[in-house]
Amino acid sequence: MKELLKVLSPGKREWSLAQQLDPQRLPAHIAIIMDGNGRWARQRNFPRILGHKQGINSVRTVVETSSLLGVEALTLYAFSVENWKRPRHEVEGLWRLLRYYLRHELNTLMRNDIQLVAIGRVESLPAAALDELQSVIEKTSNNRGMRLNLAINYGGRTELVDAVNAMLDNARLEGNLDSLEISEESISEHLYTAGLKDPDLLIRTSGEMRVSNFLLWQIAYSEIYVTETLWPDFGRSDLLEAIGAYQNRERRFGGLTRSTSSLESSPLLLEEEELELPLA
Ligand code: FPP
Repeated sequence: MKELLKVLSPGKREWSLAQQLDPQRLPAHIAIIMDGNGRWARQRNFPRILGHKQGINSVRTVVETSSLLGVEALTLYAFSVENWKRPRHEVEGLWRLLRYYLRHELNTLMRNDIQLVAIGRVESLPAAALDELQSVIEKTSNNRGMRLNLAINYGGRTELVDAVNAMLDNARLEGNLDSLEISEESISEHLYTAGLKDPDLLIRTSGEMRVSNFLLWQIAYSEIYVTETLWPDFGRSDLLEAIGAYQNRERRFGGLTRSTSSLESSPLLLEEEELELPLA
C-alpha cells in the first residue's frame, strides 16, 4: 500500500481512493474477467483487435497497481477454451499480442518482483507464444512478490476434469486407486491454482452478469464486483474503486453477521405443531 502511495500524486482521484482503503483488509487474491475489448473497438469503428491491443494498457496498469498495493495474487482471464471459436485472424492476433506483452513486460515483472504463472491447457498454444510464455515463466520463477496468473486456454470445467484425472493418475501410479478418497482439500490441491488462496474479489468489466467458466471452484465465496466500464478503459481508479466496494461488503461465508441481534438468533427450537402455525 505504501509503495502505491509513493507513485500517486496527492489531490488526484486515485490518491483519495487509495487513502480511503484499509490497508489491513486488502483482498489477498483478485481475479478479473477482462471483458469489453470488442465493444470498445466498435464504439470507435476500429477492428476488434485494436480493442484487445488497448486492453494491454489496462493489464499493465492493473498488474503494477496490484503489486504496489501488496496484493498476493492476481489472476487475469486472457483466453478461454471457448475463445478458439472466434475468427482465426482474431485468435492469431491475440497470440501476437500475448507475445508482445510478454516481451515488453519482462523488465517490469522483474523490477516489481512479480512471478508469472500460466493456468490452463497452455500446451495447445502456437509454438511461438508458448516459447515466449515459458521463457518469462522461467525468468520470473524466483520472484517472490505478487503472483500473476494468466489464465490462457483456460476453462473452469476443464480445470476440474484435469484435477480429477490427475488424482486418478497419481492413485494408479501409487497403486491405491481402490482406497482413493476425494475431499475438498484434495480437489483444491490438484487445481491449476494449487497452493493459492481462493480469490477474495472477482471483478468483471463491461457489465455482463456471468462467470463465463472462470475459476468455478475457487470463486465459491468470492465477492463479485461488476462494472460497466469496458476493459480498455479500466484504469487505476477503477481498480481502487472495486477494492473500496469490496471493503464495504460484509463477508459471511454462510454464517451470520456479527451485528445480528441476540433476539434474531435466539436458540428457539420449533416444536412439530408450531411448524404448522402461521407467523402473523
Ligand atoms: C474479452 O473481450 C477479452 C478477451 C477475450 C481477451 C482479453 C485479452 C486482452 C485484454 C489482451 C491480451 C492479454 C494479455 C494478458 C496479453 P471481448 O473481445 O469478448 O469483448 P466484447 O464482449 O466487447 O466483444
